[in-house]
Amino acid sequence: MKCVSQAPTDQGLNQDPYPFYDRIRPLGQLVWWEDYDMPVAASHAVVSALLRDRRFGRENPYPPAIPKHQAAFYAVEAHSMLELEPPRHTRLRGLVLRAFTSRRIKELGPEIEALSHELIDAFPDTPFDLLTEFAQKLPVIIIARLLGVPEGKAPDLLRWSNAMVRMYMASRTRADEDAAAQAATDFATYLRSYVEARRAKPADDLITRLIEAEEDGERLSTDELITTCILLLNAGHEATVHSLGNGVKTALQTGKRPDDPDKFAEEILRYDPPLHMFTRFAMEDIEVFGHSFKKGEEVGLLLGAANHDPDVYNRPSEFDPERDMPPHTSFGAGLHFCVGAPLARLELSIAVSVLFRRCPDLKLASPPEYANSYHFHGLTRLMVSQ
Ligand code: HEM
Repeated sequence: MKCVSQAPTDQGLNQDPYPFYDRIRPLGQLVWWEDYDMPVAASHAVVSALLRDRRFGRENPYPPAIPKHQAAFYAVEAHSMLELEPPRHTRLRGLVLRAFTSRRIKELGPEIEALSHELIDAFPDTPFDLLTEFAQKLPVIIIARLLGVPEGKAPDLLRWSNAMVRMYMASRTRADEDAAAQAATDFATYLRSYVEARRAKPADDLITRLIEAEEDGERLSTDELITTCILLLNAGHEATVHSLGNGVKTALQTGKRPDDPDKFAEEILRYDPPLHMFTRFAMEDIEVFGHSFKKGEEVGLLLGAANHDPDVYNRPSEFDPERDMPPHTSFGAGLHFCVGAPLARLELSIAVSVLFRRCPDLKLASPPEYANSYHFHGLTRLMVSQ
């Protein structure tokens, strides 16, 4: 297997990771990424196959000991469907899908549209950051409303979520680990009292439906309920914020506009996705794509690279909202395929179409810059003027 060396904390990589992907894709179906000390896949075929391969899973078969200062964070993660495999995953995902119906998501359309208008009405006349004024507010308010958490809590949700997701970053420090543990404690404490209140006084919201959801006589325990709410709140906005930011930036740079908002949203997701790498553990000793994996060994699946594979997409580095394309990998595939994909698609498609209808003269006020983070690919800010 060919080896490559590339620091995930490198500014150049994080500003534009696609040339690196183009460099490693021809090197083989799997390439050893030295800095992560594991094989990675950069082609659409291999990424898609490994996401669906049940001999690989998200749950580490040999979990490492958890340092004391990270215990609070991992106590929450222990009940997360995203970190589990069947049968627990099947049960938790089934219960969530019962409450998170596509009909309820569709009904949110008018609400997303009204909120987009409300946020645009509040845009200042001077240059401003579209990320904080629009891209961040929209998904966090919608997911808070959907769950039934007060909108006034949005700043706390953002703060807790930002602290918790730093655990997935290559550059995380001890201070980040302490902050993530504290955020997990505060988040869980807040939700515990909130869930108790909902148990006593049910309402028409997702938390109430999750409390009531039952499959084969099984319900979510309180700890599972709390983790599921945290997962939905965190996953429910973090990636959407950055998809929206990356997409609006691309529209402004290319001059392309959302004539067909659904296709536009899909191309945003393919062209510059917010999440670039997920990993899987071999659940048994196996040989795939010419490499022998020992049980417990990890493989990196590069979603952004798969989306730019020239074997699958014509002119992959061109932003072309008109393209008819095979499915991209931005929402994953297989067992862990994103539960929130219908909501994210709806939010993106409505938000960009209302934004460009209302602000046809929107332009960049300063060159946008991506955060120096590999796992989460999003802008630090998006300064625009009208
Ligand atoms: C553009 C926005 C989004 C992107 C790009 C995205 C991407 C992803 C990806 C790639 C996965 C699979 C990870 C893996 O296979 O290891 C995933 C899982 C998940 N996502 Fe999303 N997501 C987005 C929005 C949302 C939203 C809005 C929600 C909830 C409201 C959500 C909830 C979840 C959950 C609960 C899972 C875990 C599913 C499971 O383990 O079975 N996501 N997402």
